[in-house]
Amino acid sequence: MAQRHRTDVLIIGSGAAGLATALRLADTMRVTVLSKDAIRGGATNRAQGGIAAVTAPDDTLEAHVADTMAAGAGLCDEEVVRFTIGRAPSVIEHLVGLGLRFDHDGGSPHLTREGGHSHRRVLHVADATGAAIAKTLSARTAAHPNIEVRTGRVAIDLVTASKLGSAPNRVVGAYVYDSGADAVEVVEAPFVVLATGGASKVYLYTSNPDSATGDGIAMAWRAGCRVANMEFNQFHPTCLFHPAARSFLISESLRGEGGRLLLPNGERFMERFDSRGELASRDVVARAIDHEMKRLGADCVYLDISHRSADFVQAHFPTILARCLELGLDPRRQPVPVVPAAHYTCGGVIVDRASRTDVPGLYAVGETANTGLHGANRLASNSLLECLVFAESAAADIASRANTSAGRRTRPSPPAWDESRVADSDEQVVLAHNWTELRRFMWDYVGIVRTDKRLQRARHRIDLLQREIHDYYSCHRVSADLIEMRNLVRVADLIVRSATARKESRGLHYTLDHPRPAGQAVPSIVGPASDPLEVLQPTLGVPSARNTIAAS
Ligand code: FAD
Ligand code: SIN
Repeated sequence: MAQRHRTDVLIIGSGAAGLATALRLADTMRVTVLSKDAIRGGATNRAQGGIAAVTAPDDTLEAHVADTMAAGAGLCDEEVVRFTIGRAPSVIEHLVGLGLRFDHDGGSPHLTREGGHSHRRVLHVADATGAAIAKTLSARTAAHPNIEVRTGRVAIDLVTASKLGSAPNRVVGAYVYDSGADAVEVVEAPFVVLATGGASKVYLYTSNPDSATGDGIAMAWRAGCRVANMEFNQFHPTCLFHPAARSFLISESLRGEGGRLLLPNGERFMERFDSRGELASRDVVARAIDHEMKRLGADCVYLDISHRSADFVQAHFPTILARCLELGLDPRRQPVPVVPAAHYTCGGVIVDRASRTDVPGLYAVGETANTGLHGANRLASNSLLECLVFAESAAADIASRANTSAGRRTRPSPPAWDESRVADSDEQVVLAHNWTELRRFMWDYVGIVRTDKRLQRARHRIDLLQREIHDYYSCHRVSADLIEMRNLVRVADLIVRSATARKESRGLHYTLDHPRPAGQAVPSIVGPASDPLEVLQPTLGVPSARNTIAAS
């Protein structure tokens, strides 16, 4: 018997964005939070450096605004930048009120520094700020009687009134795969918040957790939302390079505290690329490393903090030190091998300042959203800040609408999921193969340095994969892997479309064929879905789609 569940607000994702939104709403509304894996399985739990906010007496909001805009290479929305940075002190205070304790130095918070920041302004909890935030938010969430967290749930698609042939359009819920029960449930909700994180898993090498498959972006796009700036995928310059280390980041704050980048022969090289050296913005540092590795045929470069005292390294970077020691590397005594890896999705679902998407009732918060804050390149430690600021504004907007006549209007109910005409997956190997192929060619052709020809090669492969995945999706029962693969291929498509349309180099999008910025900066906007393949999806009930819903 298919499960049906009703709630006031459905939040898809349990990272900083999802849990902060839930906590802001739960005193007045019933909230259901979904997570694909454990509650702390997202990128938030891995965040290292910290949260950027102006707290030092010699720092100013203007300076933080200027640094954010400079990193964003002409594509930040200045009003949004001012709004976000202006809200930073109050969201930090809220977080502290929830129980988070940032590191202190004497009476004031210890502030670290990262690339592109003109001042020390990054609040942190050693080198595990995200884990501390995730712990605080999840403890508060678990204690709240109005919040239900459902783990092991993978949202498949959003259901909208228009997809059910009803007007006016708004979101009415979602289909959700329960991986424990191996069944699809219906969640009905008048408000849905996408807080699904980024899409960096589309690349072979990434600092991100497995959950970062861009599900929210793909679902929103299929539901009728526009998506922007997908070509701006940020590559973090320094992920640990070690055969046994999977996606382990070496925080930029290590360079903020004096860490030096070295070539295999021990030579420092960043000054040749930017006068800010190791603390240039991330796009510049990642490109410089990529350039040097290719020039020398080197597998990696090295990051050296061994000139700082062993006590300093232990006190400031205990997590990084412990992981390196496990792998037989000692950053107190030797440089550690590092490479760039996909880290952050600057683009995403277009939202306004209240986190509203193009579909009424549907919100997007956190890495899945495109607020206009990051432009063509995110400034370090502005992401957690964005999660908290836009969680607050989404919650305020939802609360203000919940009791209006529109909020209370009767809505069509999503029909049950029908899998009577699909078979069990018979060739799981197809998914495994496509997954690896996609991530490898995205790395090779749509990575740190692009060309028209490489983008074209990626385009051909994506077209083929989309057809294969679509056929597979139409004929087989859904699984977590299938849902993620379908979304990853859509995200790859959106990235390549945006990258191909951008005939210039700007921020994180660098192409040898158009190596300079071209005049006025314009965001790239794709969508909403008009692709015939997307028409054949479950919620549309098109007769030829075999994996379809029953008629209501
Ligand atoms: P996440 O924390 O990734 O959470 C996403 C949630 O959505 C997860 O619970 C996942 O299970 C769920 N989900 C996804 N798809 C579905 C689906 N289909 N159905 C159900 N649930 C779904 N930023 C900073 O500002 N400062 C830092 O120091 C910093 N360090 C970082 C270090 C690392 C290693 C990484 C990877 C990122 C770092 N970032 C940092 C970026 C920042 O951590 C993330 O951008 C931010 O945490 C994203 O939060 P989020 O809530 O949007 O998503
Ligand atoms: C880091 O600690 O280097 C990551 C910071 C960020 O992604 O903002």
